Amino acid sequence: MGIRIVGTGSYIPEKVLTNFDLQKMVDTSDEWIQVRTGIVERHIAPDDMCTGDMAVKAAEKALEAAGIDGSEISAVIVATTTPDYNFPNTASLVQRSIGAVSAFGFDISAACSGMIYSLELAYSLLLQKKYRYVLLCGAEKLSCITNWQDRNTCVLFGDGAGAVILGRDDSCDSGQIASDLHIDGNYREILQMPAGGSRNPASHETVEKRMHYIHMLGRETFKLAVNAMTGACRKVLADAGMEGSQVKLVIPHQANKRIIEAVAQRIGVQKEQVFINVNKYGNTSAASIAICIDEAFRGGLLRTGDVILLVAFGSGLTWGAQLLRA
Ligand code: UT7
Repeated sequence: MGIRIVGTGSYIPEKVLTNFDLQKMVDTSDEWIQVRTGIVERHIAPDDMCTGDMAVKAAEKALEAAGIDGSEISAVIVATTTPDYNFPNTASLVQRSIGAVSAFGFDISAACSGMIYSLELAYSLLLQKKYRYVLLCGAEKLSCITNWQDRNTCVLFGDGAGAVILGRDDSCDSGQIASDLHIDGNYREILQMPAGGSRNPASHETVEKRMHYIHMLGRETFKLAVNAMTGACRKVLADAGMEGSQVKLVIPHQANKRIIEAVAQRIGVQKEQVFINVNKYGNTSAASIAICIDEAFRGGLLRTGDVILLVAFGSGLTWGAQLLRA
């Protein structure tokens, strides 16, 4: 029995924020941002568009690509760090909007590793005969938790959404080949949004102290990311008895081009095997891998049956890799 990617979609908001725009907002330069991160521009969602709205648009495209109706979806999983509300979950908005009347659904909070975690669950679910299609969305409106006065972080993030539908298909041998997932709470503080939850509920004080924004120790995060992502990639390749050269496409979480290149070099894959679009969208956290998968399929870089290696790292710390036959 095979499980394959039957459809993908993505949605990127129209408004572009370039490095030159940011130069007018904080003490930074296009050169600094490009050299240190590889980012040229990012997209920002309008005020009246939330994470769920973008997830819905991506999901609709994925359904169209799969040629199936929302009512055929068994489960809706939305990975996000910027849900529309604490509750109800964002999955319920997607479920309602696409008419997934037979589905159950939930959100996953694993920051930038959300898609890697979601895939683990989706493959497990689809081993059960009662589930046929699982819709996975990665969606973020990071612009609403970005401190536009902090040059250390505001140049990094962008908005967007991606969607992937996995389906059982008895006629193929696609599926999960190996996976390696982790969480380590010892570094919770290096990347977090300190207020808005039950630890520091929203108050005048939390707003004044700008605690409702992303706080990150960049250099520490960078080093941990390279090591963790490299380790996870090596583990799944070893478990599968494969070399990096046998992978059609490596799709890493898009946080920083230098992180991606460092990991690629350490696991022995060629530049041409690595998908990069951080230049166009910045870091879209849980959305980034789903957007990449969609662009890779639509751009003809990926086809059903190809072996792909997905790897991510994010707040938590959470990280992991998925080696899949698409
Ligand atoms: O999504 C998952 C997790 N996130 C990540 O994986 C992100 C990981 N971190 C990074 O990508 C990088 O660490 C950054 C891009 C955030 C920073 O790059 P870096 O090469 O690690 O720079 P740095 O933090 O070591 O800062 C170097 C200098 C500092 O100045 P001093 O202290 O050396 O005088 C910063 O103040 O660059 C300064 N700086 C900037 N200068 C111009 C920091 N941000 C900016 C900026 N423009 N936007």
